[in-house]
Amino acid sequence: MKLFLALAAVFTVAAQGAMTIGDSEKGAAIFKSQNCVTCHSINGVGGKTGPDLGKRSSRGYTPSELTALMWNHAPQMWTAMDAAKISRPKLDQGQAADLFAYFFAARYFEQKGDAGRGRKAFADKGCAECHNISSTNGGGSGGPAVTKWESVSDPIELSRQMWNHSPKMREAMKSKSVKVPELTPVEMNDITVYLQNLPATRNLKPQFAPASPETGELLFQLKGCSGCHKDVSKLAKPGGFRTASDFASSMWNHSAKMQIKTELRPEEMKRIVGYLWALQFASEGGTAARGAKVFETKGCVNCHGKGAERVLALGDRANSYEMISVLWGHGPDMHKAMTSKGIAWPRFQNTEMVDLLAYLKGR
Ligand code: HEC
Ligand code: HEC
Ligand code: HEC
Ligand code: HEC
Repeated sequence: MKLFLALAAVFTVAAQGAMTIGDSEKGAAIFKSQNCVTCHSINGVGGKTGPDLGKRSSRGYTPSELTALMWNHAPQMWTAMDAAKISRPKLDQGQAADLFAYFFAARYFEQKGDAGRGRKAFADKGCAECHNISSTNGGGSGGPAVTKWESVSDPIELSRQMWNHSPKMREAMKSKSVKVPELTPVEMNDITVYLQNLPATRNLKPQFAPASPETGELLFQLKGCSGCHKDVSKLAKPGGFRTASDFASSMWNHSAKMQIKTELRPEEMKRIVGYLWALQFASEGGTAARGAKVFETKGCVNCHGKGAERVLALGDRANSYEMISVLWGHGPDMHKAMTSKGIAWPRFQNTEMVDLLAYLKGR
């Protein structure tokens, strides 16, 4: 009971001003309805005016880094939109969260993977022994062919499969006296890139839809995760549960190393991920003192400071999704106001955006 209360307290703290959890399917629809797809592709499908947003390259994986990226590129985007006579998108906070979930599903935040290395890892780790990559020749030692996996385009489902699956595989391998392989996040990432780019899987729709963090917290206890993970803040810290590949590989390694037998159903994994996801992004971090400097050096203070025309008071609204919403809503007018005052459009690097948000929250 004590433990339960302690955990509940952790979550309640994290939930204050918590960020909305997005749904990738809604995000995919927004990507179309708001015309992003006219200029941007996701994994090769869509327009070519802007960068391919599904392209695997190393970059930030937090909402604030996405916000900064969009902010920095916004004026060029607006110019391109005007030139192409495309109406400017409007996004509310929830829709910004959905877009983030969609990008997350589309692997926008993964490290750059390598299909060639993935193919090799898939063989070296013994996966190929039991899993064919096409359905035409039947499964090796009884594993389903990759084309039958429902998990290839859904990182949560893949993590669940990695968790559930290895006890059975361990038995199969024991009979062959083969060691159960461990997977590093890089190997998991490479394998995923390889498996997502097979002729039969290439066009699968990316999915990422974590579920309720509240019930996820309870499941985290009921399924025994909290028995070993007493301090959940260690799992949720930025740099802990980061990308989907990090999570999937650790799910696999648990079972390989620790012989855990609890199975998770699809809904259950969605909730557990929802819980860890919410914790990971509940507090965006950032340092208000550094943010105050950013507010000055970027020139926000000129129009939004004390005594200025439009004092900014975002309070609890001050988070990355709200900032994305502001960018697409007020941004163009703000840009005009800056141009008329001869102020260059400010650009954000490293932690500047998250620091600024911390400052705006406390103002
Ligand atoms: C009219 C074309 C156009 C539309 C519509 C458009 N963009 Fe862009 N976008 C661009 C261009 C061009 C760039 C690159 C700008 C630059 O280099 O500064 C860009 C850059 C970006 C970047 C930074 C990419 C990177 O990795 O450097 C993101 C993120 C982005 N856009 C998201 C969106 C979203 C989300 C939408 C829909 C709400 C959208 N864009 C709609 C043209 C567009
Ligand atoms: C000894 C044979 C064997 C090996 C080796 C093996 N698997 Fe499996 N795999 C199976 C069997 C059998 C199933 C289906 C039974 C089950 O649910 O556990 C399965 C199911 C899966 C699934 C679920 C697919 C779905 O329906 O979405 C995934 C994902 C998976 N394996 C990944 C891997 C990976 C990655 C490796 C290598 C690290 C691997 N497997 C190695 C036998 C194997
Ligand atoms: C038997 C103890 C045990 C149980 C039960 C357990 N874990 Fe773990 N977990 C560990 C250990 C030990 C590690 C570190 C493994 C390593 O680094 O090789 C770990 C690592 C992780 C990581 C990666 C952490 C990081 O910072 O990279 C995640 C995520 C995770 N566990 C989630 C879960 C979830 C979700 C459950 C319940 C479904 C669970 N664990 C159940 C012992 C456990
Ligand atoms: C040249 C003046 C000017 C500068 C400099 C400026 N802004 Fe603005 N800002 C505006 C104007 C004008 C609006 C209102 C636009 C509208 O109503 O569409 C606005 C609106 C906003 C809003 C929406 C306010 C709300 O309550 O929803 C935010 C947030 C914001 N600005 C943040 C910033 C940040 C952060 C900076 C510094 C990087 C900045 N602004 C720099 C003029 C400026």
